[in-house]
Amino acid sequence: MGKSKVLVVGGTGYIGKRIVKACLAQGHATYVLQRPEIGLDIDKLQMLLSFKEQGARLIEASFSDHQSLVDAVKQVDVVICTMSGVHFRSHNILVQLKLVDAIKEAGNIKRFLPSEFGMDPARMRHAIEPGNVTFEEKMTVRNAIEKAKIPFTYVSANCFAGYFVPNLSQLATLLPPKDKVGIYGDGNQKVIFVDEADVATYTVKTIDDPRTLNKTLYLRPKENILTQRQLVDMWENLTGRTLDKFSISAQDFLASMKGMDLAGQVGVGHFYHIFYEGCLSNFEIGEEGEEASELYPEVQYTRMDAYLKRYL
Ligand SMILES: NC(=O)c1ccc[n+]([C@@H]2O[C@H](COP(=O)([O-])OP(=O)(O)OC[C@H]3O[C@@H](n4cnc5c(N)ncnc54)[C@H](OP(=O)(O)O)[C@@H]3O)[C@@H](O)[C@H]2O)c1
Repeated sequence: MGKSKVLVVGGTGYIGKRIVKACLAQGHATYVLQRPEIGLDIDKLQMLLSFKEQGARLIEASFSDHQSLVDAVKQVDVVICTMSGVHFRSHNILVQLKLVDAIKEAGNIKRFLPSEFGMDPARMRHAIEPGNVTFEEKMTVRNAIEKAKIPFTYVSANCFAGYFVPNLSQLATLLPPKDKVGIYGDGNQKVIFVDEADVATYTVKTIDDPRTLNKTLYLRPKENILTQRQLVDMWENLTGRTLDKFSISAQDFLASMKGMDLAGQVGVGHFYHIFYEGCLSNFEIGEEGEEASELYPEVQYTRMDAYLKRYL
């Protein structure tokens, strides 16, 4: 059987561009949606052209033109959507419902991967407001997919390293702290960090794999399951400097939401579930899921000390 033809929707995005790269690297005929709405965004256009230079094909279609989406989807076997879903960038998860309609009408798609790539929304029904919107909207998309009987894989990627690792998981910065670092509670909840390039590699590996059909793929590379304290230790060992540590109680952390804008409040809610509740690692993967590093042991995933070295 040949490798599936893949359409990446949202290909110029943060994770999308890495998915395009991984599709090409794994030898898939790779198509990337080009939306007329990009207007004068020269950076986006040039990124799309660079994908073409690397061997991808660009397909024009718009979320405002249903038939154009159907026509795009008909050209491929698999659709991977990386639609925006981070409030401080932009959050358009429900726009995907239009893509679900197009996939349903086209009728040829043998696997759809919607924009997920975070915590498993099915396990986040208890999430606190307003951050729960992320999980509720992802569940709305899941429900539409399953109602339309579209074959799927959901990817639960846990923490993208770039957002959580160099900053030692401090909110509102992406850079390493210089003097002091806030520790969430006792700092001992197990968190799972994944290099974004590895997220893309594992994601693309699933698309022709019958073991991941209608399942959730959880990314839990063993050596990247770390507590916040272990992450801080790693950085201190690399720099040879000790940071002042202060513990933040769950109550104070949640109280910090007051007066923040929506994006900040969503961030605090998500961090609360990850760092105080341990929501990434406090369950066993059941029948509904598979673990990526077990399915694909050949992937040489990036360890977080290597990731951190980029920031020295
Ligand atoms: N686990 C983690 O730590 C983590 C971190 C960040 C994100 N995520 C998840 O990863 C997924 C992707 O997030 P991201 O940060 O990569 O997204 P992003 O870069 O903000 O946006 C991705 C793409 O969405 C498309 N898009 C945005 N608005 C649109 C609209 N109105 N209509 C059509 N397309 C639109 C654009 O695609 P084109 O212009 O290319 O068509 C854009 O490049 C989300 O589900 C998010 O929740 C997880």
